[in-house]
Amino acid sequence: MTNHVLIFDTTLRDGEQSPGATMTHAEKLEIASLLDEMGVDIIEAGFPIASEGDFNAVSEIAKNAVNSTICGLSRANFKDIDRCWEAVKHAKSPRIHTFIGTSPLHRAIPNLTQDEMAERIHDCVTHARNLCDNVQWSSMDATRTEEDYLCRTVEIAIKAGATTINIPDTVGYTAPRESADLIKMLIERVPGADEVIFATHCHNDLGMATANSLAAVEGGARQIECTINGLGERAGNTALEEVVMAMKVRHDIMPYQTKIDTTKIMNISRRVATVSGFNVQFNKAIVGKNAFAHESGIHQDGMLKNAETFEIMRPADVGLSETSLVMGKHSGRAALRSKLEELGFTLGDNELMDVFVRFKELADRKKEVFEDDLIALMRTNDAEDDHLRLKSLTVVCGTEGPQTAEMTMTVGGEDKSIKTTGDGPVDAAFSAVKALFPHAARLQLYQVHAVTEGTDAQATVSVRMEEEGRIATGQSADTDTVVASAKAYINALNRLIVRRAQTDVGYDEKAVSYKDAGE
Ligand code: KIV
Ligand code: ZN
Repeated sequence: MTNHVLIFDTTLRDGEQSPGATMTHAEKLEIASLLDEMGVDIIEAGFPIASEGDFNAVSEIAKNAVNSTICGLSRANFKDIDRCWEAVKHAKSPRIHTFIGTSPLHRAIPNLTQDEMAERIHDCVTHARNLCDNVQWSSMDATRTEEDYLCRTVEIAIKAGATTINIPDTVGYTAPRESADLIKMLIERVPGADEVIFATHCHNDLGMATANSLAAVEGGARQIECTINGLGERAGNTALEEVVMAMKVRHDIMPYQTKIDTTKIMNISRRVATVSGFNVQFNKAIVGKNAFAHESGIHQDGMLKNAETFEIMRPADVGLSETSLVMGKHSGRAALRSKLEELGFTLGDNELMDVFVRFKELADRKKEVFEDDLIALMRTNDAEDDHLRLKSLTVVCGTEGPQTAEMTMTVGGEDKSIKTTGDGPVDAAFSAVKALFPHAARLQLYQVHAVTEGTDAQATVSVRMEEEGRIATGQSADTDTVVASAKAYINALNRLIVRRAQTDVGYDEKAVSYKDAGE
């Protein structure tokens, strides 16, 4: 058996499915291109049947991909599979991924007997295989499926032509030894198992996703499904950076290779955090702000004598630059471009001009602009297709009320203005947004953080909104906390508008007949 482990990244599918992590079309294309560049073998680019937006994103990612295989997800019915194929077929190397929940709890949802489900797996994998010669089958909730029945579903999928068999731990229930044993058991028992690649897909509900994925590799899996920063439903998926670095740093006991260029990890991590609105926790393994920080005196002393005292990998291995170049108002466009590239932001000339103007404004207000300021600045980069944009905001606040906000906002290309009052300046500004763009979305979270130290620091504001079960997060940064708040609120609304266009198809399989074809 080869020691090469394929990396299957599902940031754009399982990750984006996470409530509030909605990405725009342009953001999805950008993340896909970074994944392709960093050496990801397979990119799961989306769930094409879910919406026009998902379909278009998968199609375009498929057209642009240079090295990676492009995969789309489809439930086990012909209509989903046809739609998936229509989207991925443009790729140099396309893959159809189809699945159904095989555990007793999941079988109960479409109310299928074991035999009925077996027939459906056969028909759907055969149908997919007639369209594409690279087909992945997933027995969803495999870790809670009866062993005998799991073997049966896998055997049927292999016989019908599946080339990759995924064994998902859908609810993050398994543990490392069990994860390894399950793959080993399938490889030993299922006829034809040696002709396919087994994949592991773990969720992190008990914090064991990385350990379970690595254990599955020891059991014989040769594809790990993961996401950048561990983004994903509930507690997330296996983090790409963790499994890749674990196999690199502990190659002595896990002698497996991947094609990932690990020096690209930090950049893509920052980009995914920015576009998904999910900040990385400070103490997150590999990509957290503190992952390479040594503040305690004992540690600093040891580090000065020999970095290996407290470091098992070098910051440069994951693309962290050791110097944190500080920029100021005299820094030019070339310096800004080079610093942003180092931070993972590759900008076209027009975009750079726009960012440069905002950088100069910031540098006028702040003596020194740190890396974190630039990252925050990039978070406030409006997308071209944003429905709502803040044009101007003036607030009056202080001990002598009333607090008022005067705002002009562009709504679908048209400028609208209003003056409102509120209980404090942020409330007044939010009321103005609501008056200019009436909506029923509920504010679930409002958080303010200082990006750096000092009273001239930028404030990063995060906002989470909920509307009929749809969740969207928004972020912005500014040295003016109220402006950052209004922009974050508007950013969340823009993402909610994108979310409204997506149909929540979910995993529920009550299709009239799974053989109904797509148009
Ligand atoms: O967690 C899961 O089981 C999934 C499947 C669709 C593969 O994401
Ligand atoms: Zn999943």
